[in-house]
Amino acid sequence: MKLADNKATLSFSNGSPSIEMPVYSGSIGPDVIDIRKLYGQTGMFTYDPGFLSTASCQSDITFIDGDKGELLYRGYPIEQLANHGDYLDTCYLLLHGDLPDAKQSTDFHKLVNNHTMVNEQMQFFLRGFRRDAHPMAVMTGLVGALSAFYHDSTDITNPEHREISAIRLIAKLPTLVAMSYKYGIGQPFMYPQNSLSYSGNFLRMMFGVPCEDYVVNPVLERALDRIFILHADHEQNASTSTVRLCGSSGTNPFAAVAAGVACLWGPAHGGANEACLKMLDDIQKMGGISKVGEFMEQVKDKNSGVKLMGFGHRVYKNYDPRAKLMQETCNEVLAELGLENDPMFKLAKQVEKIALEDDYFVSRKLYPNVDFYSGIVQRAIGIPVNLFTGVFALARTVGWIAQLNEMIGDPEYKIGRPRQLFTGSPRRNVPGAK
Ligand code: SDX
Repeated sequence: MKLADNKATLSFSNGSPSIEMPVYSGSIGPDVIDIRKLYGQTGMFTYDPGFLSTASCQSDITFIDGDKGELLYRGYPIEQLANHGDYLDTCYLLLHGDLPDAKQSTDFHKLVNNHTMVNEQMQFFLRGFRRDAHPMAVMTGLVGALSAFYHDSTDITNPEHREISAIRLIAKLPTLVAMSYKYGIGQPFMYPQNSLSYSGNFLRMMFGVPCEDYVVNPVLERALDRIFILHADHEQNASTSTVRLCGSSGTNPFAAVAAGVACLWGPAHGGANEACLKMLDDIQKMGGISKVGEFMEQVKDKNSGVKLMGFGHRVYKNYDPRAKLMQETCNEVLAELGLENDPMFKLAKQVEKIALEDDYFVSRKLYPNVDFYSGIVQRAIGIPVNLFTGVFALARTVGWIAQLNEMIGDPEYKIGRPRQLFTGSPRRNVPGAK
């Protein structure tokens, strides 16, 4: 970051001395006011619950322009990356800063493929869960449990340890997500097949069975790979900020990513794709397209607590570029499976059309986000609704790791420790105490 030819001056109406704060510029996007000395100079904190106006770090990884609806991974537009190379090439880009050349790509694919198996002991963690446990509960446990197998070999200050931890997490998340699915349906776990692609391997571990060969459908394989690319990273969203804050204590990467999995589960964040499909199902049960107007009235009624899931975003005040690409992917998968007339997809497109013509949504700049179509395409592929967020976590692991490593790799990083505006009781004594 570089000093802008600008300064911020803070003055107080009560006559307290005003202070000057430097303004810094990045390469693109909003400048920042450096308030690091504010408390020392004024004895006051800033107040920004939800961090609507707060930059928590500087980063080279992902840039979002919410007004333009633009998303760049290391400067490359998501629209181009979705059709260039595959998810592991995007992982390489997010981790190393540039797209891999042919040899780097081949070596990286081979390196990841050599780490897809998990320790045989991992299967016994699953046995502690009820068969109907939500996969995100299982995933939070399994990813955290990975720490137990690598804790003594993870010195986060060692770049090589950080690199192998990143590879292990990227390689093993599909295996763990598939295991949590198989456990829930009572089928045997499928070992990874390293001759397959990353996405092909996941499809086989999910839908293959030991008693017959599994043939990967190339259209589904490509669609899933694109879904992973679209979910790979997204600036300082809630789960990424969780991973950064958790990792800032110096804990190991597996524990920090487990915290990210837990945060992503929430319906306001990564759980929205599951909630969106449930919402569409509810509208279907109400009577389908003819009932969309009635449902929208519930959404606009503040007392109903009903939100249009898959719509709205803290940063995007325009169409989420990922939602467009997800809709295209949806078209491709439904066509491949002969489901062009899928009622849920037709309903979703009608809901989107009605919302984008309704002033309630237009005036609040509420557009479809990444979660609006992702549930429909995942369900068509055969992924169960309660596993959608697990797939999101699988894809987002590389972003969490890239952001964590960027923080730890900065010699100036400190443990994150926000303050508060205290509104509770001043000091008082327990009855009878002196
Ligand atoms: C993800 O941060 C990221 O980058 C996340 C993510 C990523 O890749 O990591 O992009 C992934 O989490 C996408 C978002 C998925 N969540 C949902 O689809 C859940 C539904 N969306 C909302 O919960 C909401 O839009 C949020 C949480 C996403 C954003 O909320 P904000 O920025 O805090 O906005 P807000 O709640 O202050 O809303 C502003 C207004 C309010 O109305 P008013 O008080 O002004 O009258 O818009 C309304 C809200 O009530 N509003 C909605 C709405 N979202 C906002 N009204 C109906 N339906 C919605 N979905």
